[in-house]
Amino acid sequence: MPKIVITSGGTREKIDPVRYIGNYSSGKMGRALAEAFATVGDVKIISGPAEVHYNQSVYSVHRIESAEEMLSVCLADLPCDIFVACAAVADKRPKNYSENKIKKENLGLIELIENPDILATIANHPRRPKYVVGFAAESENHIENARKKLTKKSCDLIVLNDTKVMGKDENEVWLVSKDEEVKLEKASKDEIARQIVEFVMRRHLERT
Ligand code: CTP
Repeated sequence: MPKIVITSGGTREKIDPVRYIGNYSSGKMGRALAEAFATVGDVKIISGPAEVHYNQSVYSVHRIESAEEMLSVCLADLPCDIFVACAAVADKRPKNYSENKIKKENLGLIELIENPDILATIANHPRRPKYVVGFAAESENHIENARKKLTKKSCDLIVLNDTKVMGKDENEVWLVSKDEEVKLEKASKDEIARQIVEFVMRRHLERT
């Protein structure tokens, strides 16, 4: 059975005891992928805050909050066969966490620093998984940006979708690899996940 690790949900980057930087990720696509991959392998989902309920009797679930926590759990899970980065990771986090609640007059400027890129780190790791899938949420120049991400983040496949699908029950995606571009017509996230799993398993088996 292949070992499959999936990141899901969003991340929360703490500012002070009452505030954080977050995003609208629902975890719906990550959950759909976990269910679909569980039919072909052992799945672990590493998730930040998400509105969905994960079915822990079908796959294992590790909850984290920040991007740094997500990365360290992903690294501890290497080696794995297939890695899928579905999480909406906050690109930046506050440089300093304030132990005390920041007064509103001091909230005007919060210095941010870059978060680690989890997908790129895993894809360039000496114990790189055999097949690495990234997502690209784009609002313009979709295919061109997906191709850039494929190369920049050393992925085998990019699942490209529009930013508008965040939180929705349906999705419409392009599967973009070095020499392929496959459109999956609009369908429920569960159905899209089934088709992604079929595609990935075919490509993964060709390599093993
Ligand atoms: N990703 C990641 N770690 C980050 C940022 C993104 O693992 N710190 C992963 C996401 O899980 C996704 C892919 O990288 O699989 C692309 O994420 P996206 O937000 O579309 O791209 P960014 O790298 O944030 O680039 P930009 O915002 O410039 O489009």
